[in-house]
Amino acid sequence: MIHQLVYYSRNTVPGGDRAMLTNMREILSISQRNNSRDGITGFLIFDKTWFVQILEGERARVAGTYDRIARDPRHAAATIVNVRDVPGRLFPNWTMGGAMRTPEVQEIYLQHGFGGPLDPTHLKSDQVVGLALDLQAFEAGRRHGLKLAG
Ligand SMILES: Cc1cc2nc3c(=O)[nH]c(=O)nc-3n(C[C@H](O)[C@H](O)[C@H](O)COP(=O)(O)O)c2cc1C
Repeated sequence: MIHQLVYYSRNTVPGGDRAMLTNMREILSISQRNNSRDGITGFLIFDKTWFVQILEGERARVAGTYDRIARDPRHAAATIVNVRDVPGRLFPNWTMGGAMRTPEVQEIYLQHGFGGPLDPTHLKSDQVVGLALDLQAFEAGRRHGLKLAG
């Protein structure tokens, strides 16, 4: 069984798009290092206001990773939406997606009922997982397309 945790938090990164980009790059590189060491995968959805993250892995590793993340001053009020055991990983990689809502990505958000800005305080974990799975599939398709094109 794989342990899965879904939480949301408030993005407190000050500054504009540039600061946001720098922060997301830092989070991405440190997460890739730590998560591959710890067998953690998942998906991070974010915009200027919110983070919504799914973490999957061995139970104690997921808990340890979440505890570390929750103390990070780049966000606040981390709130767990759901924890559960799943038969296998739904997210085999560690990916993040969201801030750049291209028309294709916006279409996926719309299909899941997210027309405007995210409001994770009213989200159910199934909605988060469903949206993240479609974003993941889109990203995978795009990578495949790029590979073919290159
Ligand atoms: C929204 C958000 C998501 C994060 N996700 C992860 C993650 O998946 N894995 C991780 O190791 N750190 C993640 N971090 C970074 C951690 O909070 C923390 O900075 C990092 O784990 C510290 O690693 P270190 O002790 O190796 O320096 C995240 C931070 C934020 C703000």
